[in-house]
Amino acid sequence: DRVLVLAGGMSPEHEVSVRSGRRVAESLRRLDVEVQIADVDSALLGTLAADPPQVVFPALHGASGEDGATAEILELSAVPYVGAPPAACRAAFAKPVAKALVAERGIAVPRGVVLPKSAFHDLGAPALLERIVATLGLPLFVKPDQGGSAFGAGAVDTPEALSSALVSCFAYGDRALIEERVEGTEIAVGVLDLGDGPFDLPAVEIVPDGGVYDYTARYTPGRTEFFCPARLSDAAARAAAEAALTAHRALGLRDYSRTDLIVDGDGTVRFLEVNVAPGMTETSTFPLAVEAAELDFARVCRDLAFNAYN
Ligand code: DAL
Ligand code: MG
Repeated sequence: DRVLVLAGGMSPEHEVSVRSGRRVAESLRRLDVEVQIADVDSALLGTLAADPPQVVFPALHGASGEDGATAEILELSAVPYVGAPPAACRAAFAKPVAKALVAERGIAVPRGVVLPKSAFHDLGAPALLERIVATLGLPLFVKPDQGGSAFGAGAVDTPEALSSALVSCFAYGDRALIEERVEGTEIAVGVLDLGDGPFDLPAVEIVPDGGVYDYTARYTPGRTEFFCPARLSDAAARAAAEAALTAHRALGLRDYSRTDLIVDGDGTVRFLEVNVAPGMTETSTFPLAVEAAELDFARVCRDLAFNAYN
């Protein structure tokens, strides 16, 4: 009964994935499950064929992990795996696509535009950026249209700051998603399916020390305060749960996911993005929500693996 946990990967979130993978592996081992941890490389398909584990638990974040590439290889290997199938990964990983699919189901999303790097290098870029600011207003939030852990993401408070935010963004991807920045409560809602259909976990409210949930605030213990359940009105909490379940279903996600949302002063819940492989580190919100739901994180990992096998 061997579970192969995939961790590391070829994205800027490599280190985060190593931490997620380690936590999943250690949790499974505590339940006497035999676990092996491996990184992804070009030999993965061959390795799976030569010595197939009973099930694969990918704890990979970012490109090649969450974008469907690894899921494709796992499909080819015919080894059961935890998490979303390739098409669902692709839809979720492309943030503008995910936003469009979720908005189609009546969930509010921040207004935004996608700007390709090539347009930023064009002579007409200054006028274009001016038009974007005029259309979306300020403040704005800029992030790569793919990827996670806040790499390349930044807030924009003045028209002049947009250009430098885009430079940081394009260091991590070829397309920038520029969105109106909605002021409000940042929350994350996990969805879990242990075999009887998806259900929502209690919302986690995220209050970073410096106000910005950047890489340091995410992965340095003590740098962010979490409230679980989030301090929301009943109506907002219900809307948040509904948004997360809608995203999970609309995109065809499987086993688990985590939807990131913002709740404004009026209680309107807006969808920001959904994660195919939510962080499982010591400071990540998904394991926190699992425990707040009075579920045992190790058992949840084991059930996810076991259900994938069945
Ligand atoms: N992308 C990181 C791992 C997260 O969303 O938790
Ligand atoms: Mg993310």
